[in-house]
Amino acid sequence: MNIAIAADHGGYELKEVLRNHYADLHLTDLGTFDCQSVDYPDVAQKMVQAIRSKTADLGILICGTGVGISIAANRCKGIRAALVYNEEVAHLAKEHNNANILVFGGRTMKVADVIKYIDTFLQAKYEGGRHQRRLDKLETME
Ligand code: RB5
Repeated sequence: MNIAIAADHGGYELKEVLRNHYADLHLTDLGTFDCQSVDYPDVAQKMVQAIRSKTADLGILICGTGVGISIAANRCKGIRAALVYNEEVAHLAKEHNNANILVFGGRTMKVADVIKYIDTFLQAKYEGGRHQRRLDKLETME
């Protein structure tokens, strides 16, 4: 599985920690590459392109709270970005939502928790069935 990661300045530090922690997974780093202020919609847009072009199967997006970058990513068709804040949400984001982007808050979450959530998500399986009907409806929404 190809995984891409991207953050604004609010998520830069957490992105760097995750990149090192998951070195074996060879995460594709879409930036930002330092602490200079950037706009989270621009970061989300890069990730959306990576998912849509199938350069990445899964994205990890980080801003200060995770809220702005979730809003930005979820405006785009085909994107199911899940702001994951506990372990139950982490496995349900896969089992029910088949999320293609995981979102975290670099200023609001602990690194150890985020790693736990990513590991939980990666081990979970999408259940399909009634959930697929709901995902299909998402694609018809304006
Ligand atoms: C940037 O200062 C901050 O607003 C951003 O990282 C994010 O938290 C927005 O939702």
